[in-house]
Amino acid sequence: MATDPTVKGTMTSPLLSRRNILLGGFGIAATATVAACTTPAPGKAGMPSRTFGAPAPLSPSPSQRLVEKTLVAKPVSLDLGGRTVSTWAYDGTLPGPLVRATAGDFLRVSLDNQLPADTTIHWHGIRLRNAADGVPGLTQDPISSGTKYVYEFTAPDPGTYFFHPHVGVQLDRGLYAPMIIDDPNEAGDYDAEWIVVLDDWIDGTGTTPDDVLKKLIADGGPASSGGMGGMDHGSMGGMDHGSMGGMSMGTPPWGDAGDVTYPFFLINGKPPTDPDVLTAKPGQRIRLRVINAASDTIFTVTLGGHRLTITHSDGHAVEPTEVGAFYIGMGERYDAIVTLGDGVFPLVARPFGKTSGGQAIAVVRTGSGSAPAVDAAPAELSGQVLIGSQLRPAESAKLPDRAPDATVDLALQGSMKPYQWGMNGAKFGENEPLTVKAGQRLRINATNQTMMTHPLHLHGHTFALPSGLRKDTVLMAPMQSFAIDLDADNAGDWMIHCHNIYHAEAGMMIALEYAT
Ligand code: C2O
Ligand code: CU
Repeated sequence: MATDPTVKGTMTSPLLSRRNILLGGFGIAATATVAACTTPAPGKAGMPSRTFGAPAPLSPSPSQRLVEKTLVAKPVSLDLGGRTVSTWAYDGTLPGPLVRATAGDFLRVSLDNQLPADTTIHWHGIRLRNAADGVPGLTQDPISSGTKYVYEFTAPDPGTYFFHPHVGVQLDRGLYAPMIIDDPNEAGDYDAEWIVVLDDWIDGTGTTPDDVLKKLIADGGPASSGGMGGMDHGSMGGMDHGSMGGMSMGTPPWGDAGDVTYPFFLINGKPPTDPDVLTAKPGQRIRLRVINAASDTIFTVTLGGHRLTITHSDGHAVEPTEVGAFYIGMGERYDAIVTLGDGVFPLVARPFGKTSGGQAIAVVRTGSGSAPAVDAAPAELSGQVLIGSQLRPAESAKLPDRAPDATVDLALQGSMKPYQWGMNGAKFGENEPLTVKAGQRLRINATNQTMMTHPLHLHGHTFALPSGLRKDTVLMAPMQSFAIDLDADNAGDWMIHCHNIYHAEAGMMIALEYAT
């Protein structure tokens, strides 16, 4: 396994378990502030509530192609391998319908909210205009039940994206769908494309994501009893984060990887007992677009018997890198090219650090043979697994060299007991927004001060890691730091947050505002 030189060695020491490291809490004063907040704003606890009114209609410029789409968000019953679950989804399908356009197109997407709750859509990773970003209270009013809302924006950059609500823990229902922005200048040196959407599933299995969050908070106990250090996952069913069902994974980089025990994991909305079957001819070159739409699960992805050449990370070109398997955090996307062998192969997404619920699997079929077992364990899983932040950027994807004009610190903080997550000393709504001036190169010194891994996500921009690698979502291992640079070229109020949706909803978010 590749080890990340920026990860501090202490995280893997057996003598320093998560139980006796006292780090990452908010500090006494901030904890008291969190506990004292008992009047959540409408829709979202701690959310600053501004009102916006209906968005002013826009039209495409003469040179732009118009791409129109209507989505209906509604309750639905789905059959997941013989088990019926009730959930919420777009157009009643899982994943929701693909939204596809070409870079530079003007998108007009109407959302008909037939859910029994407020919602919004966030276009994850798209560098769009602020008013279409889908954050209630920050960029728009929540879309109330029984109403419609029209999103209009230009999608400037090609890549693999997805969309989901930015309200509560709705992402952990069935409300997610892929979004592809094609590159008009790309040759497309492959025979076919497969979109592979990963998810962790619990909704409608006797509980809901809202109940899961309530239970996490209740199990964490009151803020006064836990202090800062008790990051104890004992109540989550005896997770053994080091071994994956007896299989050696080398040194796991991610520490405590998740909070929620999921009954199953899906690829393209299908459980292992009724897997998606992807068919092609032997020798064909396939472009995989892998999207992690899970709320609480980092996956290790592999196609048994194959090498994958990673070409893009979060939509941005990288130096093509051949791997047997790679990690993908919540909100990340990776594109890979693979040349298919002859036969039947398991496409496996194995949840990192979770010992129940099995794995997600799809079947790749180019010839005859029986389907792989639901618990197929391709050898690639126990070989080297790529950590995406170690990819090198393609020359074309680098930010131009420039010294930062301003620097800010961003601390990721929190604990399981009490279940409190925040940034820069407090939960969202009580922490100070980061600010930047239009035109600046901003450096954010981000530090994960906790013993869990968090996928750090930025809206409306992409950032560059010190290597120059462009990302909008990056996995930060326990105690890991990254200096991330962005060009402030998209004015507005944006979110930076953990893409573990339970952490985000508990407060692990902060605003990035353009100062005038
Ligand atoms: Cu996909 Cu603010 O997130
Ligand atoms: Cu997190």
